[in-house]
Amino acid sequence: MGDSRLLQIASDVTEFDTPELHALVRDMKDTMHALDGAGLAAPQVGVSLRLVVFEVDGNDDPEVETIPFTVLINPEIIPQSDEMEEDWEGCLSVPGMHGLVPRFGSIRYRGVDQFGSRIERRVTGFHARVVQHEVDHLEGMLYPRRIADLRSFGFTEALFEESESDDEAAQ
Ligand code: NI
Repeated sequence: MGDSRLLQIASDVTEFDTPELHALVRDMKDTMHALDGAGLAAPQVGVSLRLVVFEVDGNDDPEVETIPFTVLINPEIIPQSDEMEEDWEGCLSVPGMHGLVPRFGSIRYRGVDQFGSRIERRVTGFHARVVQHEVDHLEGMLYPRRIADLRSFGFTEALFEESESDDEAAQ
């Protein structure tokens, strides 16, 4: 946070199934896994393209919904209702912090993958949250700007000192 590249509007990807695009996807997947995040947007690795990746492995915890590894390019989000839900979010570009962020509870999203194949899904809950968070990065939007009450923004350790810190929301 503070790097001006994170405030830019990213450009559409226009060429698919190229060595450069596959290398970028590989780099982003490795970075996301190394940092134990649920998602990553290309601007976070200094590439101003409309490409995000996300994945949640819920196999170890029945409370955590599994989201398959997804490469979503040139995405579009269509909210399915005006209903908003608040939940905690973190971001790999805002390390060590969490905030309570309102998001649409139910969305449809579409785009293409790195081969140019269409993706269209209707999702709710954490899956919907992750996609909204990542696509925000493509508009130069970091989650702190979406926090309704900044008293619900702070250092992860301080916010969750009562309970064991839960890093599931880290993106
Ligand atoms: Ni983020």
